[in-house]
Amino acid sequence: MIVCLCNAISEREIIQAANEGASTLEHLSDRLNLGACCGACMDCAADCLASLKNINRKNGDSAKIL
Ligand code: FES
Repeated sequence: MIVCLCNAISEREIIQAANEGASTLEHLSDRLNLGACCGACMDCAADCLASLKNINRKNGDSAKIL
């Protein structure tokens, strides 16, 4: 699923960046250029990041989602 239409950034790319250490929206923006145009994707990206943190917390940090 595409999260950022302006920059064609997918949910999968966000998950990959998070698994590689991006833990905030600022990190995602720096790595992927997320939200650099209209910013409409930021709420969805925040939800995605929060879900990943919850899943990783439940599974332990060694069992990352991708
Ligand atoms: S949808 Fe992400 S910057 Fe516009």
